[in-house]
Amino acid sequence: MTVESLQDIAGLRHIGRIVAQSLQTLEAAVRPGMSTAELDAQAGELLKATGARSAPYVTYRFPGNSCISINDEATHGIPGGRIIRPGDLVKIDLSASAGGYFADAAVTVAVPPVAERGRKLTDCARAALDAACAVAVAGKPITQIGRAIQRIAQQQGFTVIPSLAAHGIGRALHEEPSVPMHFDPRDKRLLVEGQVITIEPHITTGKGRIYQAKDGWTLRTRDKGYVAQFEHTLVITKGRPLVLTSLS
Ligand code: CO
Ligand code: CO
Repeated sequence: MTVESLQDIAGLRHIGRIVAQSLQTLEAAVRPGMSTAELDAQAGELLKATGARSAPYVTYRFPGNSCISINDEATHGIPGGRIIRPGDLVKIDLSASAGGYFADAAVTVAVPPVAERGRKLTDCARAALDAACAVAVAGKPITQIGRAIQRIAQQQGFTVIPSLAAHGIGRALHEEPSVPMHFDPRDKRLLVEGQVITIEPHITTGKGRIYQAKDGWTLRTRDKGYVAQFEHTLVITKGRPLVLTSLS
């Protein structure tokens, strides 16, 4: 969506804050020995307490409140009996709606003790998101976002998963435009003031090709490369974006 009123901003800020606060609580709750279903149950309680609803559930009937994807699972992991172990990279992706507005954010939790490469991968994905937010300015090319992400991934010897794009959001979970997380010189589209989008780089140790698992949801890397992802929902302005899912 494109923001048109103060009411839009208030509604987006409200759901952005709910998602950010819930995600922070979930991040702190991750413990080795717990199942992903236990973590997801907490996600459900946090949303319920605020009157928000799980966006993947209301939109796609996703079987969970949040997507929880571990190690070589890139995204859309179904919460279940899988036990979180030391060394795991646990990606929690939480999107929700309230009052007709949607926000979407994700973090990677590296469960100690984490191998050096896993820690570097996680730091790289976080840095890529920050760098991409800094260049997301009205009037600039959309592909500047992917360019910033790809540069940082390559510097560290990692790869962007090109088939996992970010997206417009606001009145629905997934709206136009699709926002590629890699550089595409043919993409001439420009960012627009008031546009609401996500930025959500998936960075991998492998080559970046993925496939859908037999459960019909989980997307995994073909070469079993590990994946780290961070995501924010933001409003494009003429200056720094308004990051709706940041608590700072
Ligand atoms: Co998400
Ligand atoms: Co998203």
